Parts: sequence; structure tokens; C-alpha cells
Amino acid sequence: MSAIKVENLRKVYRITQKEPGLAGAVKALFRPTYQDKAAVDGISFSIEQGETVGFIGVNGAGKSTTIKMLTGILAPTSGTVQVFGRDPHRQRVANAREIGVVFGQRTQLWWDLALIESLNTIARIYEVPPARYQTLLEQFSATLELKDLLRVPIRNLSLGQKMRAELAATLLHEPRIIYLDEPTIGLDLVVKERIRNFIKEQNRQRGTLVFLTTHDLGDIEEVCQRVLVIDSGKLIYDGPLSTIKARFGKYRTINFETLQPVNGIALPDGAEIEAKEPHKLALRFDRTQVSASQVAAAIMNQIEVVDFSLTEPDLAAIVKQIYNGALKEEIGHVTVAEA
Ligand SMILES: Nc1ncnc2c1ncn2[C@@H]1O[C@H](COP(=O)(O)OP(=O)(O)O)[C@@H](O)[C@H]1O
Ligand SMILES: [Mg+2]
Repeated sequence: MSAIKVENLRKVYRITQKEPGLAGAVKALFRPTYQDKAAVDGISFSIEQGETVGFIGVNGAGKSTTIKMLTGILAPTSGTVQVFGRDPHRQRVANAREIGVVFGQRTQLWWDLALIESLNTIARIYEVPPARYQTLLEQFSATLELKDLLRVPIRNLSLGQKMRAELAATLLHEPRIIYLDEPTIGLDLVVKERIRNFIKEQNRQRGTLVFLTTHDLGDIEEVCQRVLVIDSGKLIYDGPLSTIKARFGKYRTINFETLQPVNGIALPDGAEIEAKEPHKLALRFDRTQVSASQVAAAIMNQIEVVDFSLTEPDLAAIVKQIYNGALKEEIGHVTVAEA
């Protein structure tokens, strides 16, 4: 049985259309007109225990709506979500024991309580056995460096300290799944790194399934073995990060330094000029059409080349493209069919 199984999941938001002014408001009250918007539009995937999944897409793509359905906060319009065989919305209490949810920049801790009081309360709510609680508290205090913060009220913690506290609180009942929505947003690099390491460690030691939404490439690269890309409510990619790299680095750039000025060079098919200076030439080529050595040979036949180098595709640029929606056409047909 998959830990998470999603089939043909849809969420349609019904938005009431209102004409301006009081007359419009009255009309909308008695004879409302609606517009339906499919925020999540028929997505399917399964995730096994122990997987680390990055869930990415532009703003408004449907990430949060999906997470809300996975966690049971929202009921789907149609389709199904199963988490360990349960319906997370109908069986919310049973589901809550299995999952932990962290939203960046939002805290579920009690503002006025000292961190340790919050943690004690959570341990009691989830009926964590005292000895186990002690062990976990020591572990989390060490790895998340919480020791000096335990007596501090949540309101006095910095954003990074709050996020570390939040993680400890979320994992006290040792959920089998953690959902993280932008956990590193606004944090400095050191804290980001600590949080990523902590998440990875949970995954390694306990086999915790990690489902992570993030704009930060570092989070994905360091934590996630698998990536789901959502666009306009549809899943457009499901596969390993390395495949995105290999496949969507379809274009490469080769840089030449030449002895003579570059002029009137004939380009091989599939290559185009990216940049040109008197003694430099950068060619962008489609490696599904032409190989680097073919491009190099074609140029060297025409002009004396002093040096040349190949630029590898930059994952940051690829993910940025995904976030710009620019990759959709290229991705469109790809891995959904493969999955
Ligand atoms: N409560 C709501 N009512 C109406 N429309 C909503 C609601 N929540 C989200 N939407 C719309 O659904 C789409 C997906 O939103 P969301 O799931 O928040 O995307 P993401 O988290 O990827 O930015 C957006 O167009 C958004 O405006
Ligand atoms: Mg969102």
C-alpha cells in the first residue's frame, strides 16, 4: 500500500460574481451567479513511505490547495486522496496522528508560552510516553539547537528560531509523513542548512515521508529525490530531479575563443549565436539535434580556435524556468506518461 495515493483529484472553487454597488450586492444575494475555478484539475500520483518529494509550481498553480486536501483540511470536489488507506478529510483525527504539517511564516505554537511549555502540552495532547518524550526532546534540542530557547516565550523568538521550534513541535508525535509548505522562506543560509539536515535526518532515521513545497532550489536539491511539478492545477512532471537536469538541459552553450575576429561564420543546424565579441563566440545548441563535438568541429573548420569550453545546464535556471511557466511546452508530454 502506498503511503499517499491520489487519484484524479480535483478541487473547484466557486466564486460568487457580484456586480458593483448595492444593487449588485442585493442581486448577488438573491440570484447569485457563480464562476467555477478548478484550482486542482485531475492530478494522480502515489508516494511510498520513505520518499522525499518536492512539490513545485508557479504561484496559483494549486500547491496549497493540494496540500490542504492531502492533510484533510479541505474536501476534494472529486477524485480521491488516501493516506495509509484513510480518507484524510473524513478521518481527520486518525490521520492527524500520522502526519505533521509545517507552514513557513506561520506558527502553531502558543505565542505566550515558553517553548518548553508548548512542547510539554503537545506531548500530552498526543500522549507521547514520558520516557520517549524525554529522548526526543534531547535529540531535537541538540540537532535543532534549542537548548537555550526552551525557556523563551515563542513571541520572543526570531523567525529562524521559531521555525526550528516549529519543527520540533511537529515531530514530537513521530508522524510518518511531514508536509512542509515553504519551510525555509525568509531564513538565512545557516538556519536553512540546519533545517534541511534535520529533515533529511528524520527521513533517514525514521523513514519519514517528506512532502515539501518550496521556491528554494537548495531545499529541493538537498532534500528531494523526486519532484512533482504542478501547473494550472495539472501535474506536468513527476520524476527524479536528475531527469529534469538531463532532459531539460536540452540546450547547452559552447564558448569559443578565436585567434582571428569572428566574422561570417556558418553555423551548424541546431546551433545559434548566444553572444559574440571580436574574439569570442558563444553558441547555444540543441543537443537533441547536434552534439557538442559536431558544433566544435564545424567552427574549427572555419576559424582557428584557441580555447573552448562547454557550459553545463544550470539547475537553478531550469527551476526558474519552471517557476516562470516557460518550461511547460517542453515538459508537457514528458514524464507523466512515464510514471
Ligand atoms: N479559497 C479560495 N477561493 C477561491 N479561489 C481560491 C481559493 N484558494 C485558492 N484559490 C485559487 O486557486 C488557485 C490555486 O491556489 P493555490 O492552491 O493557493 O496555489 P499555490 O499554492 O500553488 O500558489 C489560484 O488561482 C487561487 O487564486
Ligand atoms: Mg501556496
